[in-house]
Amino acid sequence: MKPNEYVTLGQSGLRVSPLCLGTMTFGTEWGWGADETASRAIFDRYFERGGNFVDTADAYTNGKSEEMVGKFIKEAKARDRVALATKFTFNAQPGNPNAGGNGRKNMYRAIEGSLRRLQTDYIDLYWMHIWDMVTPVEEVLSSFDTLVRAGKIRYIGFSDVPAWYVARAQTLAEQLGRERIIALQLEYSLVERNIEREHIPAAQELGMAVCPWSPLAGGILSGKYKGEGKLGSPQGRLDIQKTAGTALFERFTERNWKIVDVLVDVAKQMGRPPAEVALNWVATQPGVTSTIIGATKVNQLDSNLSSLDFAIPAELRARLDKAGALDPFAHPYVCFSPPIQARLRGGTAIRPWSR
Ligand SMILES: NC(=O)c1ccc[n+]([C@@H]2O[C@H](COP(=O)([O-])OP(=O)(O)OC[C@H]3O[C@@H](n4cnc5c(N)ncnc54)[C@H](OP(=O)(O)O)[C@@H]3O)[C@@H](O)[C@H]2O)c1
Repeated sequence: MKPNEYVTLGQSGLRVSPLCLGTMTFGTEWGWGADETASRAIFDRYFERGGNFVDTADAYTNGKSEEMVGKFIKEAKARDRVALATKFTFNAQPGNPNAGGNGRKNMYRAIEGSLRRLQTDYIDLYWMHIWDMVTPVEEVLSSFDTLVRAGKIRYIGFSDVPAWYVARAQTLAEQLGRERIIALQLEYSLVERNIEREHIPAAQELGMAVCPWSPLAGGILSGKYKGEGKLGSPQGRLDIQKTAGTALFERFTERNWKIVDVLVDVAKQMGRPPAEVALNWVATQPGVTSTIIGATKVNQLDSNLSSLDFAIPAELRARLDKAGALDPFAHPYVCFSPPIQARLRGGTAIRPWSR
């Protein structure tokens, strides 16, 4: 990443670095993160190398991540310089249904906690963390709008939502004159490419940035795992997470190992670490604006920040594209494939104005 090179986040005036510092790894509360000393070193190095975009969430490491980020920003006197993003949705009080989800009561409760832990009086980008499947979209939009008017947040984003939901929200926001959604935060990597079907086209059509999370799929795309776990010691985070019983962390699959094999081979041919090649691939995919990187050590961060300093040659990129490609025959997407679309065009060539 070149210092002083920024990108506007969707259709907004917010300028951010193309690599955002994810801080889900700040804190050891979940058994695999970085302690405060290591987190501070990572944070300082990211800023030294010109980064300005930091992502956290109220739920990360039980609030510890926000606390650390707030402290580091304050001590570095960096509040004006940083584009600070955090999230709400996860429940903070077991047994209390209104201390979680996307209803107004929880959103207003959550923002106060985040502002306190982050030691600031405003958030630059406030993310709805996960669709809660019950709150009306109109309520979400008007609650966000009120927080913008109150000066507590500057911009709004949606994370982990169905594409239809964000398309409805953005269209309503435009029609009702509410604050628009400027960005989507979604999982995207060489092994997880489902957002290519609906979310990326929606984001491009509706003026939203895409910010991929877990671009290394928790570390498997660094090439340091094989078979049942990490090569050598100490254990990696995926060794610990695989016992969590969540499908989200089931990274050690036959399909993924095949993709990793291709990646490792491509990286070898390029003389680059697999992690850098995997990050470069995702960060330069269509629609991607700023990729949220994670690290538990400064040397990992240094390498990850170098991932935009080269281009993947076309023939090697084609191998990566093919390795984890989505099923081209899945319905209804097969209807949008060139052979079927050609039958709609009667032998003419049509190029959309915006692509
Ligand atoms: N919205 C959401 O639902 C959501 C969900 C997840 C994450 N996020 C955001 O996305 C950010 C990034 O996610 P992530 O931490 O899962 O990203 P990731 O890049 O997929 O995984 C990061 C992990 O990969 C390993 N790693 C990183 N760089 C490496 C390198 N150069 N060489 C070898 N190993 C390397 C480290 O594991 P070890 O510690 O084992 O070395 C590190 O903890 C989070 O901090 C958070 O801000 C959002």
